[in-house]
Amino acid sequence: MKEVIVKTGGKTYSIHIESGIFNKLPDIFKEKYSGKKLAVVSDNNVFSIYGNTFVKNLQQKGFIVIPIIFEAGEKSKNLTTLNEIYNALADHAFTRSDIVVALGGGVTGDMAGLAAATFLRGMGYIQIPSTLLAMVDSSIGGKVAVDLPQGKNLIGAFYQPDAVYTDPSLLETLSDKWFQDGMAELIKHGTIRDEDLYKRLALHGYDRKTMSRNLDDYIFASCNIKRIIVEEDEKDNGIRQILNFGHTIGHAIERVQNYSGLSHGEAISIGMVYITRLTESMGLTERGEAEKIIEVLEKYGLPTQWSDLDVSDVIKAIAIDKKNRSGKITIAFIEKIGHGRLIEMDLKELEDKIHGILKD
Ligand SMILES: NC(=O)c1ccc[n+]([C@@H]2O[C@H](COP(=O)([O-])OP(=O)(O)OC[C@H]3O[C@@H](n4cnc5c(N)ncnc54)[C@H](O)[C@@H]3O)[C@@H](O)[C@H]2O)c1
Repeated sequence: MKEVIVKTGGKTYSIHIESGIFNKLPDIFKEKYSGKKLAVVSDNNVFSIYGNTFVKNLQQKGFIVIPIIFEAGEKSKNLTTLNEIYNALADHAFTRSDIVVALGGGVTGDMAGLAAATFLRGMGYIQIPSTLLAMVDSSIGGKVAVDLPQGKNLIGAFYQPDAVYTDPSLLETLSDKWFQDGMAELIKHGTIRDEDLYKRLALHGYDRKTMSRNLDDYIFASCNIKRIIVEEDEKDNGIRQILNFGHTIGHAIERVQNYSGLSHGEAISIGMVYITRLTESMGLTERGEAEKIIEVLEKYGLPTQWSDLDVSDVIKAIAIDKKNRSGKITIAFIEKIGHGRLIEMDLKELEDKIHGILKD
């Protein structure tokens, strides 16, 4: 088993990474959390594959378990579903010392985490991530949230879990589409902070069989990168923003398509390429780095350009980015692979430069 220990202001917790750990969790929970009531929050897809047996096995160990199941997908990450979770917790008289267990991808983790952060002003919270994105990214760092019709993640908090149990073998049932989406974040982590991870990813292409041999290592490396960044800047006021590499343009692309076109991973994949082209043209990035990023993204079937792009729509969408503060925006870029940096740019200057890059 590999373990990443995350030390933040308020809490120190472990991310346990081991193929097969999921089946051991009822025993582990009995040893660590005996006497606590458990709310297992999961979407209907994940629950139907893993939830029933998990709940039954926990009950056999003597736990009172309340499953809270919602319809899979980002469209459920809202106040209505959050309210359903609150109602279930209240109806079953959950107390502060009881635990919300998030079994699922980033949608489940974000929403269950926000419920745990706010119900009775904070209760126990454990994550069992089941998508690659959740394993390498969303289960680490304590950002929990739901969406509003006006935008994604607008209601949220910073709330670190008590523990994360990551079982890469759960990914065997994940579709290629969602697997690739998580790959974009994994590649991003290597690109901004770990040249060795980038090189190892670049060696292999999209062969999930070959990859699965190395998956525990990749997930461990990725968690460790995010741990280091989050420990330095838990509340996202500084260096944590390098995790937004590719996201300024990526989010704008998602917004222009009304979140119904390219997936998040596909959009940030294109975003990483375009921002690197842009910073290369400004002399901030070594020449040739965008091509290296393209090489690895293409190996995993991720897109690196978008021909239907309407430059002025993308620029408008960047301007309403929540990270845009009084006409200035902080951009994450790389000097070279493994060396992520931040720069504050004038929005107008960025728009002009993007115009130049995207038109070519
Ligand atoms: N908190 C953070 O720091 C952070 C970081 C990045 C993304 N996010 C959030 O994460 C969310 C996206 O998460 P996601 O990509 O995991 O999406 P998701 O949770 O919707 O899962 C994607 C799909 O995969 C299915 N699924 C999950 N695990 C499965 C498995 N093992 N086998 C079969 N099917 C499975 C789900 O039912 C769903 O249909 C977004 O809401 C985003 O805002 C949060």
